[in-house]
Amino acid sequence: MEKKRIVTGDRPTGKLHIGHYFGSLINRVKMQDEYDQYILIADVQALTDNFDNPEKVRKNVRELAIDYLSCGIDPEKTCIYIQSMIPQTAELTVFYSNLVTIARLERNPTVKTELAQKKNIFGESVTYGFLGYPVSQAADITILDGEVVPAGEDQEPLIEQCREIVRKFNSIYGDVFKEPEIFLSKNKRIKGLDGNEKMGKSLGNAIYISDSPEEITKKIMGAVTDPNRIKKDDLGNPDICMVSYYHKLFSSEEECKTICEECKAGKRGCVACKKQLANNTIEFLKPMREKREYLEQHPEIVDKVLKEGTKKAQKEAEIMMKKIKQAMKLDYFINE
Ligand code: TRP
Repeated sequence: MEKKRIVTGDRPTGKLHIGHYFGSLINRVKMQDEYDQYILIADVQALTDNFDNPEKVRKNVRELAIDYLSCGIDPEKTCIYIQSMIPQTAELTVFYSNLVTIARLERNPTVKTELAQKKNIFGESVTYGFLGYPVSQAADITILDGEVVPAGEDQEPLIEQCREIVRKFNSIYGDVFKEPEIFLSKNKRIKGLDGNEKMGKSLGNAIYISDSPEEITKKIMGAVTDPNRIKKDDLGNPDICMVSYYHKLFSSEEECKTICEECKAGKRGCVACKKQLANNTIEFLKPMREKREYLEQHPEIVDKVLKEGTKKAQKEAEIMMKKIKQAMKLDYFINE
């Protein structure tokens, strides 16, 4: 049986943290065996809200690729490629732009949320490029004939809009595209070191996959614990302690049980508890950090993965674009 095609990706705007790891990377590593997986590094989409900072986007393309490879994305199984190097995506975005209304884009909940967060960039007047990025994302997915898009809840309105565009296209020009489905990650969002519901770069509460042991220790020593617990023998409440929360990710079940019991009984000091967590986190991330260091010293390996992945994606996009142009009667002089 043929494997279903996955298309998914990330904007290259920063290094990945453990929220990304538990939220999406773990799934992608698992899914690469059962699916024909394509992961795009969405540099064009990153420019929609970083148009004045091309160096940042450029630098993070490589960082993202290194993070993927360090976390276990296998280039033999997953095609990693650069969005801007698939020009057919830009072409298809233009074709799709006739099938989407401005009002519909303005109503897209993901766009709305992001615009509210990016008031500092756009003020009251949003760019054509940013407002239109769901159209370009629909092109990303469908130019590679994507069927399944593993992503978080925040991406749901984008995939829904993609499905609408596909239906409209197919009803006018004939059945060319599949309606992609979102594969919602069941993994819950990882909270930040400060207890914030979200871990994020701008919030300064993240542990990065690339963090050194010293950085990890320093961050964990500063994590938020039960505020009512001042002395060691005060009875603790691990349910409101971020250290206990992270122990559940990085420590064994047995350790977690002991930690919880000792904390509740006032028999465990927060400092010792944090040190234990730091050690376990460092140990957990060690293979990824080592792989990362190796790849940083061997940029030619990363280049090769990106070049070969992009070449493969380009071939697929070319085939698809032929079908699209034929359906849209834009296939001039094809026999010459
Ligand atoms: N919007 C995604 C993000 O912000 C990135 C992305 C671009 C994407 N194109 C995609 C995700 C296609 C899935 C499929 O992380």
